[in-house]
Amino acid sequence: MSLANEMQDTIIALVDGHRGILAADESSGTIAKRFAAVGLESSEEGRRSYRSMLLSSKGLGEHIAGVILFEEALSQKNDNGTPLSEVAAEQCIVPGIKVDKGKGPLPGAPGDLITYGLDGLAERLETYKAQGARFAKWREVYPISHHNPTTLGLTANAEMLARYAAVCQSVGIVPIVEPEVLIDGEHSIERSATVNERVWHEVFNALHRHGVELEYLLLKPSMVTPGKESAKAPPEQVAEQTLRILRRTVPAAVPSINFLSGGQSPEEATVNLNALNLMKGNAPWQLSFSYARALQEPTLKAWGGQPGNVASAQAVFLNRARLNHLAMLGEYRPEMEP
Ligand code: 13P
Repeated sequence: MSLANEMQDTIIALVDGHRGILAADESSGTIAKRFAAVGLESSEEGRRSYRSMLLSSKGLGEHIAGVILFEEALSQKNDNGTPLSEVAAEQCIVPGIKVDKGKGPLPGAPGDLITYGLDGLAERLETYKAQGARFAKWREVYPISHHNPTTLGLTANAEMLARYAAVCQSVGIVPIVEPEVLIDGEHSIERSATVNERVWHEVFNALHRHGVELEYLLLKPSMVTPGKESAKAPPEQVAEQTLRILRRTVPAAVPSINFLSGGQSPEEATVNLNALNLMKGNAPWQLSFSYARALQEPTLKAWGGQPGNVASAQAVFLNRARLNHLAMLGEYRPEMEP
């Protein structure tokens, strides 16, 4: 099969109008923080049982089309010895892999960040592919301040995303392109819209320069919201601002936009996704989710590392996944919350 056909098949499996993506690709440092928040220590065995519990939730494949895993998880197995990537695939969930190696300061642009991990990427991708991964994720992070992101920050981060995406497509892996504009701060929704517009514009400019085929990628952006320390905006305003900027910057060839939750509460992430789908009209792309915290926070709390809590934690998790699936159809109502 040609690489283009391989990627087309992956896109068909990931983009079906009613399912989203579970981001379960926390690095060892991040998952330790998430575990600590519910009083758990992070051990290899704990991480394995947690991920195994998520992926073996019965019926998950009705709401989730893909899962992003961390490298460690590709070699982990469930209690019966089945690799976690196969546990996912058995539920019609496509396994994917986070391939960036985290972020640090961008020299020459105080306050901006840059992500590492391009060296040896093609070889790593071949290994992940042999382990079952069909798509990848790379995240660039943009803090907002009165002077960030700088012009250098915008171009350097876009260049990284485009180079990563081009390498993925050269080996038949579908790239998820994730420019995360952080919610931290007290900025207004208008400032968030201005920054996201510049970010998305630079990203698509760079993707074009690098010859990336837009038909075979997914965009994973932030929603346009006010900063966390500002008053919240109603879902209709989030949807209106987000759609306005997406229409200006994201070509129709992109099949799906899978938002990150980025520190919104689980309910907010769902209600905003619902508003986006109610308002999308004839927008050309699928509007979906690729949430980590908004799907996992309540689940992790319900689990608390106790084997006896697995069934109730899976019920919480499935319900969150189902509500987001309904939000993709514009059929979510706040009264559906437990
Ligand atoms: P959140 O949904 O928690 O923002 O995570 C999404 C993600 O994959 C961040 O890279």
